[in-house]
Amino acid sequence: MGELIKDGLRIDGRKPDELRPIKIEAGVLYRADGSAYVEWGGNKVLAAVYGPRELLPKHMQDPTKAVVNARYNMASFSVEDRKRPGPDRRSIEISKVTSEALESVIFTELFPRAVIDINIEILDAEAGTRCAGITAAAVALADAGIPMRDIPAACAAGKVDGQVVLDLRKEEDQEGEADLPIAIAPRTEEILLLQMDGHLTYKEFEEALELAIKGSKYVSKLQKEALRRKYKKVEEE
Ligand code: CDP
Repeated sequence: MGELIKDGLRIDGRKPDELRPIKIEAGVLYRADGSAYVEWGGNKVLAAVYGPRELLPKHMQDPTKAVVNARYNMASFSVEDRKRPGPDRRSIEISKVTSEALESVIFTELFPRAVIDINIEILDAEAGTRCAGITAAAVALADAGIPMRDIPAACAAGKVDGQVVLDLRKEEDQEGEADLPIAIAPRTEEILLLQMDGHLTYKEFEEALELAIKGSKYVSKLQKEALRRKYKKVEEE
């Protein structure tokens, strides 16, 4: 303790309630129906959406709605020790919670028997990749024209050196006391994903949740700006 916050500032000079720099670009892939690229601190994430299209094999289809299938994948070169390619427990878990978070805003009943595939590729990882992945996937879904109640946005808060802070970087995630990633539907502040690693008192939890919602709302602004930029460019062409 006492290494991560000095004179009220964090190791990268951020205030407790400050996000890392975030850049979002919509529509970066030609082949995908929708796509987005996100740089978030040291994270680099690409999301590609395909569909809605017929789900095959047929016995996997749901006659009442589309299946939302998000696949989170870390490139083997995205982390310090080479990651063994392919799904592991962690990426299966993140794929599941991401699929559920995104499905809850998509009007899936409009596309019976279909699948919406969402590929999230982590090219560079520096903590907070599930939030960056959901943020990229949401922009890619909007770029693909998938009808949604809202465009989800995600952000984590946590606790380091006894203090509640926004958007943990790698060292804070590793040495800190808690990490609380969330995803919300920004219009209503409905929680679409909430996970917690570590320990928080109830008061700290409330404080961290409020901070993560504030962070997600700022991320939501950046997502909408990215989508507006993309459509402005299309209009000009
Ligand atoms: O990335 P996120 O914070 O959503 O998930 P995590 O499981 O809390 O992982 C935190 C960080 O640990 C990742 O962002 C990576 O930087 C790192 N990590 C790694 O170095 N090697 C792995 N196999 C998995 C994660």
